[in-house]
Amino acid sequence: MCRIISIANQKGGVGKTTTAMNVGVALRLTGKRVLLIDLDPQANLSTYLGFTNDEGEPIDDLPTISHLMMVAIGQGKKLTDVKQYIRHNELNDIDYIPSDINLANADCYLAGALSRETVLKRMLTKELISDYDYIIIDCLPSLGVLLMNALVASNGIIIPVQAQKFAFDGLGMLNSIFDQVKATLKPELSLIGVLPTMVDHTNASKRVIEQLKEAYPDELFNTVIHRATEATESTNKHRSLCLYKNRLGEEYKAVAEEIIRREVTT
Ligand SMILES: Nc1ncnc2c1ncn2[C@@H]1O[C@H](COP(=O)(O)OP(=O)(O)O)[C@@H](O)[C@H]1O
Ligand SMILES: [Mg+2]
Repeated sequence: MCRIISIANQKGGVGKTTTAMNVGVALRLTGKRVLLIDLDPQANLSTYLGFTNDEGEPIDDLPTISHLMMVAIGQGKKLTDVKQYIRHNELNDIDYIPSDINLANADCYLAGALSRETVLKRMLTKELISDYDYIIIDCLPSLGVLLMNALVASNGIIIPVQAQKFAFDGLGMLNSIFDQVKATLKPELSLIGVLPTMVDHTNASKRVIEQLKEAYPDELFNTVIHRATEATESTNKHRSLCLYKNRLGEEYKAVAEEIIRREVTT
């Protein structure tokens, strides 16, 4: 059965994209079939994968999730096979649906569309899902309709939390959206885990982890992701941390193992 997982936190810069990419590649390395979906108009995941330039503009003239969303709400060309939007990245051996800056327009159009929270879910057809063990959605830093779409399409969510001051800001709002989606459109949605990121040796970092343990005793991952410059280097090289020897790569592999284990026991 395919697990669809949203990596969500409405704060920017907490490690969502880094987590989506590296958990995806780590799962792939265990032999799982993985599809990454970039659902952020900033398209950082697509840039990580070499699809878009640093401005979020596609390098080639290929369709992205923004075209797919427009088609799905009747604003674009005729609805075609969703598989046409899937690219394969050779270097990281992973399938993905890219994004681009135009997804910001789709977000506006979606606001007026019928059943606007279920567009992505309807696009992820049974046929597509059956090709994968995991679909990982890299969410945008906002609590709008695109995030709702990601949650409604998912079975589970992972929340990366930057282990720094103000880590808890906004988590209450995200939890409340999670609860609303669960209570209305997606009862089986589960919180797979909360992942501390950019952990360092400061007291602030230690304190956040202690507080997260209290707030999420069952959901906090045993693994934490430390702060290391390799993260940015990996993005610049368009190559996952899991493909060469370094601490963060090992940590993301451990997170992937935990995800697989959690799925077996729940
Ligand atoms: N563990 C880490 N240590 C140091 N820098 C990191 C780490 N994880 C991510 N980064 C860097 O922090 C920035 C934000 O990370 P990113 O994954 O893009 O966050 P988000 O998707 O939540 O905005 C990027 O420049 C990224 O390379
Ligand atoms: Mg991001």
